[in-house]
Amino acid sequence: MSKRVPIVAGNWKMNKTATQARAFAIQLRERIRNVTDREIIVFPPFTALPVVADELRNSNIRFGGQNMHWERSGAFTGEVSADFLSDLGCTHVLVGHSERRRDFGEDDDTCSRKVRTALDAGLIPLFCCGETLEQRNAEQTSDVVKHQLSIGLDSVKDEEFIIAYEPVWAIGTGKTATSTQAEEVHRWIREWLGKRFGPAVAETVRILYGGSVKPNNINELMAEPDIDGALVGGAGLDLASFEPIVRFK
Ligand code: 13P
Repeated sequence: MSKRVPIVAGNWKMNKTATQARAFAIQLRERIRNVTDREIIVFPPFTALPVVADELRNSNIRFGGQNMHWERSGAFTGEVSADFLSDLGCTHVLVGHSERRRDFGEDDDTCSRKVRTALDAGLIPLFCCGETLEQRNAEQTSDVVKHQLSIGLDSVKDEEFIIAYEPVWAIGTGKTATSTQAEEVHRWIREWLGKRFGPAVAETVRILYGGSVKPNNINELMAEPDIDGALVGGAGLDLASFEPIVRFK
């Protein structure tokens, strides 16, 4: 059994108005208030963050932004800064989610700048990586993931961060990587962490799996030695599915 405290995180993506988010946050807080042996983090849309912060500030649930700009402030119309997030009480921020890479042109360099800025603003980056189906079929998974990590985390020193391995072909498709497939990549990532940061960091960094995590596959995934938690999309939007995932065995 790993000494790393597991994390269950819910990425709400572009779902839930502020009104819906408040109601959900209240229910989630009441339902899982006795869960203390794992970390729970939610990533609401920006517009819902203030109300979620109001409801969760003194709870066992932490919250963060789904994205942020790489600069601290300035003329960037429509953007949200790391300081805006930390001022609301956010502790974490997602960086490099595949939907942002695919639809908004985020590349490894952008991700690297965001990681640095997040750390400078006191946020813990949850860095997302993962291969497409084409890359997996071409047996490039290990190279792709290590490349994303080596550029994305190039500025990190002795600072806390979290990794989420999210194979693109498993996101929102109902196709989960098998626990064996996921564990293989998590092991590669931990080996890479050992080479890049040393054995102590490799032992402590949490590596989450994301991609069609559901109540019926969470236990099998969490039984793997290098899977330290889950980044949940669709199943994180309903308490009926998120609560059993949070309470994985
Ligand atoms: P799904 O759980 O809906 O596949 O989404 C995963 C994800 O992208 C979490 O960030």
